[in-house]
Amino acid sequence: METIILSRRGMLKIGAAAAAGLAGGRLLGAETQQPASSKETRMNQLESTYENGEYVLPELPYGYDALEPLYDAQTLKIHHDKHHAKYVTNFNAALKKLEKARQGSDFATIQAVSNELAFNGSGHVLHSLFWHSMKPGGNGGQIPDELQSAFEDSFGSADAAMKQFVAATNAVEGSGWGILAFEPISKKLLILQSEKHQNLTVWGVMPLLVCDVWEHAYYLKFQNNRAQWVDNFMQLANWDFAAECLAEAKSAMQSARR
Ligand SMILES: [Fe+2]
Repeated sequence: METIILSRRGMLKIGAAAAAGLAGGRLLGAETQQPASSKETRMNQLESTYENGEYVLPELPYGYDALEPLYDAQTLKIHHDKHHAKYVTNFNAALKKLEKARQGSDFATIQAVSNELAFNGSGHVLHSLFWHSMKPGGNGGQIPDELQSAFEDSFGSADAAMKQFVAATNAVEGSGWGILAFEPISKKLLILQSEKHQNLTVWGVMPLLVCDVWEHAYYLKFQNNRAQWVDNFMQLANWDFAAECLAEAKSAMQSARR
């Protein structure tokens, strides 16, 4: 698979001239050139979106006009520089509000801030993936062997996967995303629709511990007293399991970077 190497934040902005010099989507920042073996992995792509304790707007992996005429430079520039940038700013702001809430043990605004966290966090993660989901010239109809096999294993054929992706993306109600995803339990691919992009989650997180607050989980005994159920859950919580999941998640991240 072709390698894309990201320049780091703070390095030279990608200018039109530099973009014109990109060969097939490859970007080699002079000050940040990495070995040619660097993989175009999801984790490598996302690494540049968080630095020094804050989420940051990643550089585009190509010039603003590099996707013309299929995706125009003006739209791409506004989309990245304004819309994505705002998600980043508000993601960090939501985290600061939560830090303040924890310090003051005041969670009166937890619902609103949790919504801000999910909305802006998901916007940041998905847009960071979105820029790498396109490249100048596309793949010319070529699908890497590993992905071809995954398509066949999960959907029957690559053609069937493409058709389902197009249909699902076109049918998203209102604003949202079409998403090709890896489901780690079955180790198969799924095609998902995401309405808006958050619904109180941040795409890409790996769950470590979960508490079910659908009414079926507690109503028989606790009726409308969800708080009592949550209190009880916290007394039952398996933090050993959460620690094991955390170790697995960190291990998976390390593997993805190799
Ligand atoms: Fe967007």
